[in-house]
This record gives sequence, structure tokens and C-alpha cells, in this order.
Amino acid sequence: MIFGENSLSNSFIVTNLQEKKINELKIFNKEDWSSAYKNVEKELTKEPLKISKGENIKNLNGTLLRNGPGILERGGQWVHHPFDGDGMITSIKFENGQPLLTNRFVKTKGYLEEEKINKFIYRGVFGTQKNGGILNNALDLKFKNIANTHVVKLGDKILALWEAAGPHALDPNSLDTIGLTTLKGVLKPNEAFSAHPKIDLNSNASSELLVTFGVQTGPKSTIRLMEFNNAGESSGELLIDRKDSFNGFAFLHDFAITTNWAIFLQNAIDFNPLPFVMGQKGAAQCLKSNPKKKAKFFIIPRESGLFRGQPPLIIDAPEGFVFHHVNAYEKDSKIILDSIFYDDFPSVGPDENFRDIDFDKYPEGKLKRSTIDLKKKTCELETISEQCCEFATVNPKFLGLKASYSWMASTNQKIGNAPLQAIKKINLLTKEEISWSSGPSGFVSEPIMVPSENTSEEDNGFLFIVLWNGLRRGTDLVILDSKDLRELAVYELPISIPHGLHGSWVNH
Ligand code: CO
Repeated sequence: MIFGENSLSNSFIVTNLQEKKINELKIFNKEDWSSAYKNVEKELTKEPLKISKGENIKNLNGTLLRNGPGILERGGQWVHHPFDGDGMITSIKFENGQPLLTNRFVKTKGYLEEEKINKFIYRGVFGTQKNGGILNNALDLKFKNIANTHVVKLGDKILALWEAAGPHALDPNSLDTIGLTTLKGVLKPNEAFSAHPKIDLNSNASSELLVTFGVQTGPKSTIRLMEFNNAGESSGELLIDRKDSFNGFAFLHDFAITTNWAIFLQNAIDFNPLPFVMGQKGAAQCLKSNPKKKAKFFIIPRESGLFRGQPPLIIDAPEGFVFHHVNAYEKDSKIILDSIFYDDFPSVGPDENFRDIDFDKYPEGKLKRSTIDLKKKTCELETISEQCCEFATVNPKFLGLKASYSWMASTNQKIGNAPLQAIKKINLLTKEEISWSSGPSGFVSEPIMVPSENTSEEDNGFLFIVLWNGLRRGTDLVILDSKDLRELAVYELPISIPHGLHGSWVNH
């Protein structure tokens, strides 16, 4: 009996200690986090950055591009969700390690109209309403192309992307907005063009391809898969174009590629447009998981690959909701796909304030691996890590191939949801991981991995992270060594940038 009592109390102590540890890690000041949500106040041109820690990285040449919401409030009215904020592009150009910052709002039609009168005149997809209540919003189905999700180079232009409409072209030097582009007639005016293009450095068709898609959805959905040359003289030219139709509504934010396939995960959700039409909700708030439906993989042959001309494969996918994929590769007749899975679709409801959300009430993202058997048409799911994460990436040279490492933004704590405060490197084969934390008052965004030149070592390179520094209530740029997550340099930016979305690196 005594033995039994002892072991009981021991396990009680262990549980208490674990809980205490978890609670300590949970400590962050919500105001430190939410203070990032404010309008970007100015546009700067080639402003030198002040280094606050470490040293410039000699021989570093290239430009870091970032996109994200830059206007969150007009005339005292806040957007309902930061994803409704107008896009603002930050470019940090390194010349022999010396960084110069330029930032510009994307001068979309809607931005210019609203800027003139400092008032929201469009409804936002994520629930931002015009003033005047339901009556003033009902039956107004116009939306604003806010160009706030991603920024990439295509040919001689920079493109600011938003998935529900066409891309905006920007001047690569000044970042000035040239305007909505059809990419030399490839797109119909304002045709949907995804915000998640993939840069394929391993194709036979070109030394660099930009592979992307657009979705037209309704009772039937059509995916247009496009592959552009992104190097040399005919850079920017469309090389490959195919369209495939599928039954049902499709919400496709991201996809993955391998040498021969483009992989889409169609989440098991429904779209009920009525509350949107009636002025009660934003369009994205009308998406709802349907437990009776089965998620599907749409696996489309790439026309540059071995299975060109063949029809797509449709295979049942695991339960859960996915915004972002990390990478995919082929092994025998299987596709190995890593993605970030949520238990449910995370939406900010009409009565919630995004600056004061209760993190515990939202599902957390977890890195999981789908092994899709193309012959048997089955899929097996394995959790790689239970820790909440987002914005995971691999070395860009390994995109579409078997990568050993992934880098991502994660929470400090191992369990449950919280703001993203750490950068994690995980070995996808052994599951070993190391972390760098910006806590308790720092908040990270998507890490961008830039491999070192002249090395084939997969994890040799740099990670660029735009970070909200809650202590000084300002934005920092942190450069880490991608191998051991050592801090190499920290710069204080002269503008404050709200928590952002996606970005890319352009070599010079
Ligand atoms: Co995204």
C-alpha cells in the first residue's frame, strides 16, 4: 500500500511540475502581440538599416521581399480580420551585406479610392463590413483586390498576389505599382491567380520555373495550372497551361509540386453564401467544415513531366483543414506530402475582435505527413510534431524533392495554441529539432530560407525573419544561421509592420 501511495504522489508531483512548466511558457503579454496591429505610417526609399546586434553578412547580395496587411484602420473603423488589410510590400536589398529598405503600399483601385476619403468603402472577404450595418452591406458583392498575401518576381516584374483576383505588377526597383496585369494576355482581366506560386529549380524545361494555379469555383471547380519560364531571355513567358474540372466547391489556398505532379488538397468544407449576400458575414466567414464530406486530393500531372496528357487522380484525403503545404516528393509510386493540419477551419466570427482573441479557443496547426499511394489510391497520415506551427519551408533547391530539413514558425510551448514566437528547425527523417525563441516579447513571422552559394549542404544558409519586437513596439529583421539557428544579425526597421503573410528572396 505504501508503495502504491508513493507512486501516486510522485506522479502527482510530475504532473504538477509539467503543468507549471507549460504555464510558464504560456506567459506572453497579449498587448505586446496585438500592438503590432496598426497602420504602416510611411513609405521609405532605400533607407539604410541600423544594426542592433551582430554584424552585416559579408558578400550577401539579394533582395528580401515581404507582403502583408499595411492598413488595418480607416477613420476609426478597424478591419474585422487582418487578412482584410491592404497589401504593403517591404523590400530589403542587401549589397555586400549592407541592407537598404524600401516600402510601398500596393496602389490598388480600392486602396486609392479609400485613401482619398479615409474610409472603408468595400466589404472584406474576412468579415470587414462597411459602416451602416446589415442594410448597407446586404447585396453588395463587390470586393477589393487587396494584393496582400505574397510577393514574387516573375520575369522583369514583381507581382503582389491575392488569390481571388489578378496579380498587381510592381516596378522591381521603386516598388511603384504599375497596375493589375494579365501577364501579357495569359490571364483574363482580374482572373484568379493563386498567392502560392512555387519556384521549381529542378525542372528540365528551364533553370527556373514559376508554377502556379488559379481556381474558378462554384458547383464545379476548375483548376488552371500554369508554368512560366522565370530565367533567361524569355523569362516571364507561359510555357505550360492546363485546365481540369472537379465536382464541388473548392477552397484551395496552396498546393505542392513534385517533378511530375501538382498536388491539391480539397478540404471538406461547404460555402453557404447567404449570410454574405445578406450583409451579415464576410465571404470567408461562410466557409464551414462539413463532417459528412470527405477531403480529397486532386493530383494533376504536370505537362513538363512523365504523365503529361493524362487525367488527374482523385484520392480520399485525411480529415482536417489545411492552408499550407510544406513540400512533396515522389518515392516509387507514392507521393510524400508534408502539410500543416488544423482540426477545423479557423475563422474569426462576426462578434470577435481579432486583436483580443483567446488563443485557446482556436485550433493549432500541426506538421503532418501524408503518404499517398497512387496505385492503391490510399493515403496514410502521420504526425511529425505535435507542436503548434505555421509557415514551414524547405531549402528552395529541394522543393519537389526529398528534403531532410524544414524550418518554420512555432509557438514557444510544446502543447496548445499561442502566438508564434519561435523558429524551429526539424529533421524530417529523425524528427530531431532545435529552436530559437524571440520570447517572451518577440513575435515571429514566416522564415525565409536562403541557401549559401557554392555548397550542396542542405541546411547551410540563412533564415530571414521579420519580427515584431513587443519590447520596443517596433519591427526587427533577424538573420539566423539556418544550420544551428545562431543569431547572426538583428536590424531595427524604421517602420512598424503588422504581423505579415508571405515573402520571397530574389538573388542578384
Ligand atoms: Co498562405
